[in-house]
Amino acid sequence: MEKKKTVSVAPSILSADFGHLMKDIKKVEREADFLHIDVMDGHYVPNISFGVPIIRSIRPNTDLIFDVHLMITNPLAFLEAFAAAGSDIITFHVETVDDPAEVIRRIHTLGKKAGISIHPDTDVHAIFPFLADIDLVLIMSVYPGFGGQSFLPAALGRIRAVREALDAIGSPALISVDGGIADSTAPSVIEAGATLLVAGNAVFGDKDPAEAIRRMKECAG
Ligand code: DX5
Ligand code: ZN
Repeated sequence: MEKKKTVSVAPSILSADFGHLMKDIKKVEREADFLHIDVMDGHYVPNISFGVPIIRSIRPNTDLIFDVHLMITNPLAFLEAFAAAGSDIITFHVETVDDPAEVIRRIHTLGKKAGISIHPDTDVHAIFPFLADIDLVLIMSVYPGFGGQSFLPAALGRIRAVREALDAIGSPALISVDGGIADSTAPSVIEAGATLLVAGNAVFGDKDPAEAIRRMKECAG
């Protein structure tokens, strides 16, 4: 019998209502494994979301693990601030730095877990040299910058390639997939090897966000 797969879900607050952000976070607190927090600078991506002050403000109000996704051009300059604000996992984009190994080291020195993310147009092999040192790989399955886009099926082959490479070195790193994840796309990404589903619209756009997370977890079979 095939071993039952398990999957974690990280609702993305990009699709929450910032007018009552904590109220929305409370709706998912019991079911969510992580809280996905999208930071956008208007340079690396053509959109601006929010930064350190929001993270600092929500930190005392929830025990959820903060999975901070930095879509910014100069992550090195801001690691300390994001760590101090209460991030637990800090993920940067491989395209935004000259020396990813150094960024990973700095995140670990700050006592945080390190994630590396990759843009849909970047060759997936760009992150392979860093897989042994990383706690999380974030495969973008949409063009970074906006919630509510359609899933790009090319992500599946990229997830499989990373799954194989992590298994080959016996790494327990999470494979997170971000963008267009819903009940319809979750089964295929789980099958490909993803272990963490990031979902914005499918969770906060649902009339019952907690139930939406439960449904997504059931996709793991
Ligand atoms: C996009 C962000 C995603 C976004 C996903 O750049 O990184 O985390 O919130 O949104 P959905 O799940 O709506 O595609
Ligand atoms: Zn994200």
